[in-house]
Order: sequence, then C-alpha cells, then structure tokens
Amino acid sequence: MDEDAESMNRVYKSGAGAIVTKSIGLKPRKGNLNPTVIELEHGILNAMGLPNPGINNFKEEIIKLKNKKIPIIGSIFGSNEKEFKILSKKMQDYGANALELNMSCPHAKGYGLEIGSDPKLVKKITREVKKTVNIPVFVKISPNLTNIVEIAESAKKANADAIVAINTVKAMKIDLELKIPVLANKYGGYSGKAIKPIGIRCVYEIKENIDIPIIGVGGITTGEDAIEYMLAGASAVQIGSAIYYRELDVYKKICNEIKKWMKKNKYKNISEIIGAAHK
Ligand code: DHB
Repeated sequence: MDEDAESMNRVYKSGAGAIVTKSIGLKPRKGNLNPTVIELEHGILNAMGLPNPGINNFKEEIIKLKNKKIPIIGSIFGSNEKEFKILSKKMQDYGANALELNMSCPHAKGYGLEIGSDPKLVKKITREVKKTVNIPVFVKISPNLTNIVEIAESAKKANADAIVAINTVKAMKIDLELKIPVLANKYGGYSGKAIKPIGIRCVYEIKENIDIPIIGVGGITTGEDAIEYMLAGASAVQIGSAIYYRELDVYKKICNEIKKWMKKNKYKNISEIIGAAHK
C-alpha cells in the first residue's frame, strides 16, 4: 500500500475502520530495485525493501490524516530497541492512535523477521516501546517460524496489547525463460489468497495457547474469509492484497458480506463468533 496521506484517505473513505501505514523507519529508504512486485497464480509476491520517507518526513502525512479524524495504526520497523523507541515516540507525538511493530518482514537484512524470530529481542523491543508510549502496541509476527506461539508469548510477557498475525510468507518465483529469480531481491513476501490457510492456522494456534487479542491478516478477500479468521480467534482483521483483487471499495463489500453471513446464521453480535472454533 502506498504511504501518502491521499492514498490512505481513499482507503479510509472506501470503508476501512482504521489505516495501517506502510512500515516507517528512522531514515528515508528508496527500497529495492525493480521488479519489486509480481502477481502469481494464487497470490502476490513482493520485496519492496521497506521503502519509506523516514519518520521525520512522515509527520506531515499523519497530521493530514489526523485532520480528517482517521484512526491511524502507525507501523514501524527498526533494527534494535533504541530505534523502535525513537520511532514509537515520534509516531505517538504525530498523533498515531496505535502502533504496529513490524517484526516480520521476511527478506530485509537486519530488520523484520531477523528480529522477530528471536524471542528475547521481541520481548526487549516490545517492553521498551511499551515503556515509551501510552497508545496500544500491536506486534506483527511472522508465519515463517517453527514456533509462532513462543514469539507471541514473548510479546505478551512484554505487555503487548495485541498480536497481529500474520505477515507475508517468505517465497520466490523463478522465470523459466531467463532461468533467474524474477524479483531483483530474489526473495520476497507472499500475500493474497494462497496464504489464508496459513494465517488461519497461526491465529488458531495463538488463540489456543495464549490469552491476548489477535488481529487476523493474510489472504482475506471476502466477508467469509474474515469470519473464518474470527472463528479462529481474531477480534479484528486487516486487509491489504484484496484491494488488488476487488478494488478499493473491498472494505465496504467485506463489511456487507460479514453482515449478510451473520444474519443468515442468526448471529447478532460479532463477539459471538470470535474464537468460536475452539471447542
Ligand atoms: C515488505 C515488508 C513487509 O513487512 C512484508 O511483509 C513484505 C515486504 C517490504 O517492504 O519489502
């Protein structure tokens, strides 16, 4: 998703309840060389390379959104607790309503999953951020882990307010003619329809083992996909790649489909279905 205020405003107006920003770091980054995104048969593969204007230059965009009263979840990435601390303080000062710590980008050297696969580091960073801000802190974790519950547990121990599961799945595409990887970065993160069963499993596994709110994400394209995440244990969901499949008003479409499903299945309140698959 683009990171300027106008594109985020368009997403909000099309029916999203809040906006998660593209992940922002300390310094401006151009990102990787092209190609950075490719549509595959059942999903989208990208290695943008965490492009962003840097936290200081992002202030203006956040303020524009706040003037429109749009709830913002500021996503941040850093390589250690000091960087996360600075970023979180600035995001809060600019007016973000909550923070999402990106500990799960699957292919960026020194960031994302390289941090998010170490339970001690996850705990240390989350604890530092929680000490720094008073807005809710969400930790976005990766499916590319042997033990996702251990990482979620570390975030909970450090008082994270919610777990966001999942980020993209580390993946690759090779061109048969050229016989080389298609992405300039070779490896990327896979999103879209194909990863939904992986996301559902991760959310279910976290819910089964830990008492913490979960925001479900990964391959949600329809209202029924969102319901499935909620049955697994998610109390809210994020939607990204589905814009590509169903256009910008996908948020409105999905909300309507959720309402329709609830009516058909005689549910009055969404809380009745959260975690209902755990018997
Ligand atoms: C990028 C970041 C992510 O968190 C992710 O899941 C995939 C790609 C990126 O900017 O390259």
